[in-house]
Amino acid sequence: PDLWAVLPAAGVGRRMGSATPKQYLDLAGRAVIDHALDLFVADVRIRGVVVALDPTDRYWDATAYADHPKVTRANGGAERCHSVLNALDALGTRAHAEDWVLVHDAARPCLRPADLDRLIEALIEDEVGGLLGIPVRDTMKRAEPDDRIGATVDRASLWHAFTPQMFRLGRLRAALTDALAANDLVTDDASAMERIGQAPRLIEGHADNIKITRAEDLPLARFYLQQQGR
Ligand code: C5P
Repeated sequence: PDLWAVLPAAGVGRRMGSATPKQYLDLAGRAVIDHALDLFVADVRIRGVVVALDPTDRYWDATAYADHPKVTRANGGAERCHSVLNALDALGTRAHAEDWVLVHDAARPCLRPADLDRLIEALIEDEVGGLLGIPVRDTMKRAEPDDRIGATVDRASLWHAFTPQMFRLGRLRAALTDALAANDLVTDDASAMERIGQAPRLIEGHADNIKITRAEDLPLARFYLQQQGR
């Protein structure tokens, strides 16, 4: 089976407080999405990359991989899950149901090549697939509506879910289609797989694989890239 990558990049970044969507903000002289794409474009194991863009996107054409032969575009949708499903559809007849797809947020520019390697190696023979994540470090609280603590949640079994998330194309498509049909707007691909009774595997990555969400994340991402020598 072949390996493909899909980058949902159609978000508007409401939490960022900037007119430019976060995947296009400047990070060390290039767009955030350029850094996210670097690994997938360079990786010879990956046959092609689809980016899901807002149909009215005015930024993509000025980025580094806009004309790259390995990268094609698809229209994004209202939520991340719609964008991913459209991108999977855009793979068309080039890809097969049993192929693997790596879904990676365009807003995560600091993924380490070694973490990507570990994910692929750990899952390529797996029945279900899985994702990068890290165990939570802080004590976790469940809040009541008035922001008072209702309960302390045992952190020993809690992880942060990151991307890439790696699943078989056919099953991920079926899982996302099923979630949307049930009006369940899953916020990641693993959630869609869980809904149809699959148990994705968690592969421990590194905390620097942050999703750019708030303005203060950009200098942090810059620091992490520098640390990696990128
Ligand atoms: O909003 P959030 O931070 O969860 O977005 C994660 C990724 O999904 C981002 O790269 C964003 O561009 C993408 N996204 C998308 N289509 C949407 C919403 C988000 O492709 N409708």
